[in-house]
Amino acid sequence: MYRGLIDRYRRFLPVADNTEIVSLHEGNTPLIPVPEIAKLKGFKGEVYVKYEGLNPTGSFKDRGMTMAVTKAKEDGMKVVMCASTGNTAASAAAYAARAGMKSVVLIPDGNIALGKLAQSMIYGAKVVAVDGNFDDCLTYVRELCDKHPIALVNSINPYRLQGQKTGAFEIVDDLGEAPDYLLIPVGNAGNISAYWMGFNEYYKEKLSTKLPKMWGFQAAGAAPIVEDRVFEEPETVATAIRIGNPASWQKAVNARDSSQGRIEKVTDEEILEAYRIIAKNVGIFCEPASAASVAGFLKYAKDIEPNSKVVMILTGHGLKDPDNAIKQAPEIFHVENSLEAIEEVIL
Ligand code: F0G
Repeated sequence: MYRGLIDRYRRFLPVADNTEIVSLHEGNTPLIPVPEIAKLKGFKGEVYVKYEGLNPTGSFKDRGMTMAVTKAKEDGMKVVMCASTGNTAASAAAYAARAGMKSVVLIPDGNIALGKLAQSMIYGAKVVAVDGNFDDCLTYVRELCDKHPIALVNSINPYRLQGQKTGAFEIVDDLGEAPDYLLIPVGNAGNISAYWMGFNEYYKEKLSTKLPKMWGFQAAGAAPIVEDRVFEEPETVATAIRIGNPASWQKAVNARDSSQGRIEKVTDEEILEAYRIIAKNVGIFCEPASAASVAGFLKYAKDIEPNSKVVMILTGHGLKDPDNAIKQAPEIFHVENSLEAIEEVIL
């Protein structure tokens, strides 16, 4: 039986034999070929998405959270805390519940998707909606966790990236080799850093013979790394990556430069177009921030070497953000209670 990513990749992770694992059997997400997307650009290589929305709470955050909460529990902590644009909060709340611990989540008031809010609430987190943005919330969380015996579970907690690096392992295990390009959305910049670490560890163990070029994508209204300046008031429809001063900024720059990769911006229009395309042309529903990977492919496919292998990370499930889905979809038909009325609209 599959028992989660710590069990599967134990030898690469900082856990002892007797560590009690807090898991919801996260990881093991599918790598799905998407020739439909390649074809749109006349691209001759292979294109895949890694559908991280199929993790237990619907995002890649569960990979990091199984590690962070396992270690917090091992250290005897009773409460975990994070700042979040929604997904980290949902994941922290779920893993705290699983561990029998309490969770406190700080979210930017009015700027997180509805599904994520619902998750944090039902998993039993203390939800604090701050009249500020994610970066403000993270500042408070750092201070509060310094001051009180509370475990910080944002990605500045190194165990988070340890867990998240397993996404790279799974890709290499599935393909039998590292891909040539890894396309990934960038917000607080932890995930691109974690993937780069994972690919490097596998390479050093000779489990792959090459390293991918890391291509990160930020929203144009929240593109601090691309423009090399803090965004005081980040703004984007992709609320998950509405971040102006990423905590792992330097690590992401290192991943980009060491891999001869790039970090670019995509506009909200480009993100939403990719969001509709991946749903309508392929049948995969991701949240807007995740579609930044696909938007990046559509925008920069011209620069990708032909016949290469490209993996795009779809970081979160589309059901996280029903409001944006409904706004982007075609109209629905309201009809009276009769066969004729239905026939009239469908034929
Ligand atoms: N995609 C989704 C769906 C996210 O939720 C996030 C980050 C990212 C991409 C970017 O990943 O921060 O490692 O660069 N969400 C965080 C949160 C900030 O609070 O849920 P990153």
